[in-house]
Amino acid sequence: YLTSKDEFHAYLQAEGGSKNREEDEELDLQGKLYLAPLTTCGNLPFRRICKRFADVTCGEMAVCTNLLQGQSSEWALLKRHCTEDLFGVQLEGAFPDTMTKCAELLNQTIEMDFVDINVGCPIDLVYNKGGGCALMTRSNKFEQIVRGMNTVLDVPLTVKIRTGVQEKVNLAHKIIPNIRAWGASMVTLHGRSREQRYTKVADWDYIAACAKIANPMPLFGNGDILSYEDANRAVQTGVSGIMVARGALIKTWLFTEIKEQRHWDISSGERFDILKDFTNYGLEHWGSDTQGVEKTRKFMLEWLSFLCRYIPAGLLERLPQKINERPPYYTGRDYLETLMASQNVDDWIKI
Ligand SMILES: Cc1cc2nc3c(=O)[nH]c(=O)nc-3n(C[C@H](O)[C@H](O)[C@H](O)COP(=O)(O)O)c2cc1C
Repeated sequence: YLTSKDEFHAYLQAEGGSKNREEDEELDLQGKLYLAPLTTCGNLPFRRICKRFADVTCGEMAVCTNLLQGQSSEWALLKRHCTEDLFGVQLEGAFPDTMTKCAELLNQTIEMDFVDINVGCPIDLVYNKGGGCALMTRSNKFEQIVRGMNTVLDVPLTVKIRTGVQEKVNLAHKIIPNIRAWGASMVTLHGRSREQRYTKVADWDYIAACAKIANPMPLFGNGDILSYEDANRAVQTGVSGIMVARGALIKTWLFTEIKEQRHWDISSGERFDILKDFTNYGLEHWGSDTQGVEKTRKFMLEWLSFLCRYIPAGLLERLPQKINERPPYYTGRDYLETLMASQNVDDWIKI
């Protein structure tokens, strides 16, 4: 593969600068339910559970430089389960040469349906190096990354962005037409800025405006979906489809609720069965030796820190539960349901 910046630029020129989208395989995700890329929590066993009802899945964010260094733990993030029939991998990086080099490697070695660039990551470690959300303000580098990766990939390239960096300065609507012109096949917009993190509700009016601007390129909307009502409202904004992140961690059966347009008053026993399935999938994936057991346990605990936020539908005075509402302490309808509502890590270990 390409080893220097000069080689990279020569390669791009020889290839005519950028490839036409039509030359890639088509990516038709219209109306599909997309499980968001989720670092740590969106591991393969968890996605296997969600895949029963979600349509599209994506691996956890992989750091471009770690992949290029051959770190096996980073390459492991790109593994796909055989049930994942619409599967993407997500890359994070700040530079066109390394990102393109990495895309070339992925193209040669990984079975995926699309590659997504993470231009939404807010964390300092990534942002301060010019990656993630910072690319929204580094237009030249961003363009070279999209064009470069698109040139070498045989599968479609997608981009995940935020509204912008600062709370009151929306950037997405200005960048989206460029991303389309650079040859991306789809954009996912998380309706919050870097500054906002999770403190405010996602701005779905702005997502709606951006979906119009993106047309004919598909735009997926992302933010705060925890019920089929939330999903219906989101779809009505004119987006091509919706992506769900915390909603899937808090209520893994949310995809079922959306598809079947109902609230599911799931019992604690049924929820426990889901955890048993995760355990079996975890031991299959990470191994059933001490290390595999510990990993399965660790990732289940990570997941339980979200699952405990679910309030059983049958206990609510008013449906549906909203993602930003934190309930006062309550007792479940049985011992297990109470245990599952606990915010205490000791109770998660008991589970
Ligand atoms: C635990 C966790 C891990 C995440 N990891 C990633 C990631 O690797 N890549 C990414 O693009 N977004 C990541 N996100 C952001 C989500 O994909 C999503 O954009 C955000 O949570 C908003 O959607 P929601 O309101 O449905 O949660 C992560 C979010 C959470 C809660």
